[in-house]
Amino acid sequence: MDNFEASDIEIVKGDRPLVSPAPPAEVVVEAKRKILFVASEAAPFISTGGLAEVVGSLSKALAKSDVFDVRVMLPLYQDIHKEYRKEFRFLGNFYVPLSWRNQYCGIFEYKSEGVTFYFVDNEYYFKRPGCYGYYDDGERFAFLCRAVMETMGFLGFYPDVLHCHDWQAALAAIYLKTTYCLRPEYRHIRAAFTIHNIEYQGKYSLEILGDLFGLSERVRDLVEYDNCINLMKGAIECCEAVTTVSPTYAEEIKDPFYSYGLDPIIRRNEGKLCGILNGIAPAAYDPATDRSLFANYNARHLENKAVCKEELQKMFALPQKPDTPVVAMVTRLVAGKGIDLVKEVLEKALKRDMQFILLGTGESAYENYFTDLANRYQGKVVSVISFNSDLARKIYSGADLFLMPSKSEPCGLAQMISSRYGAVALVRETGGLKDSITPYGAGGNGFTFRDYNADDLLYVLGEAIDLYRDKKKWATLTKRAMQTDFSWSTSSKYYEKLYLDLLK
Ligand code: GLC
Repeated sequence: MDNFEASDIEIVKGDRPLVSPAPPAEVVVEAKRKILFVASEAAPFISTGGLAEVVGSLSKALAKSDVFDVRVMLPLYQDIHKEYRKEFRFLGNFYVPLSWRNQYCGIFEYKSEGVTFYFVDNEYYFKRPGCYGYYDDGERFAFLCRAVMETMGFLGFYPDVLHCHDWQAALAAIYLKTTYCLRPEYRHIRAAFTIHNIEYQGKYSLEILGDLFGLSERVRDLVEYDNCINLMKGAIECCEAVTTVSPTYAEEIKDPFYSYGLDPIIRRNEGKLCGILNGIAPAAYDPATDRSLFANYNARHLENKAVCKEELQKMFALPQKPDTPVVAMVTRLVAGKGIDLVKEVLEKALKRDMQFILLGTGESAYENYFTDLANRYQGKVVSVISFNSDLARKIYSGADLFLMPSKSEPCGLAQMISSRYGAVALVRETGGLKDSITPYGAGGNGFTFRDYNADDLLYVLGEAIDLYRDKKKWATLTKRAMQTDFSWSTSSKYYEKLYLDLLK
């Protein structure tokens, strides 16, 4: 059956059925299951990291099956490029109640690869640079969530599953289960919540429960935790299913080392928790077609990967030595990414024949460290303090080894991308790193170490550099990394099953 077109849907309030064109008589058409994602970002429109990639690529993977009608709602930020905006279709506007406020909401629609995206327009909240970091982020995302609930009525589109991603979308599930479920059209909606990173929970002072979030004292227990409003906690309590982005992370967040205080809540709700490893869109990260690269290649023909390496070295004024391993990191410079371990061992490792390239931004102490290191090790170390996806791709393609020694990593996408480009990943066995990279010695696709310990990192890095000397073995490993299936083909099936189970 073809996708529903918005124009096929009668816009009615109440629970009248959706109407689609009459199908050819011989085809038995079952209504697709309606899935609505709510998120604060989605690629390719707006992205600050992994969340956007996953929302963009998972929604498309799910829409490929005939079973689901997948739609995504997100804010219409100022930074969404006009190349996209000019294709958006304005569907209408209405007012959204948020406590004592009544705020304008315009809805724009854009369809791509079977997915319908809705953009929530309110210039007061979203006509600002970037996505986050404003004093009123709580109010901005409360508005988004309330607008999502009102948009269902406006469109006459009541999903079967409301799937909320991270704390910014948590209130949509909370509003559904505390308020909107009292209305007949909303009563059947099941809610799922995905934790992309438990570090960011959406914590606010209890004083704003009613005034800002428009929640009554009656629901206070649901959202209160540690004397604060905790929106992630509220969503975990409200939703019928809670997922996180790798099986290992689903186990880890039951432990205080990883949970940022939420482990009692996770353990209490463990019956509805599961971990599903993220995928990537293989076509978006394909060294055979990527136009950012100096030359294209694939796992069977690696000659041009050597060209990419040579050009990268040239670009950074590094000696163009084909036999010197290029070790790279593309990362946010924050403690969770294991930068402290790298700081402890890098100079020791640099005694060996290797080159090191870092691309990233973050905490100024880390930025300064890498800038200083590059100054002291000219011709050996390069630090680029910026966020630049074109350059990131050039680095993935030119590097031999990719470091990701995270302290904690819910899933991580960079290790999958680097593997696709034949930069073999060296990771700590945590979260999705453990679930996607397996040790070379055991027939795997990369290098791993278990404990968060600098000596272990140094040891494995040494092993990797030793193996690099063996051209044949290294080529086998590179191919294995490149040929690992990181696509959504398996993982999206788990989401499909989860939705269908919820709807039983
Ligand atoms: C967050 C996590 C990262 C994960 C991404 C997508 O950014 O920190 O590990 O890959 O979300 O789920």
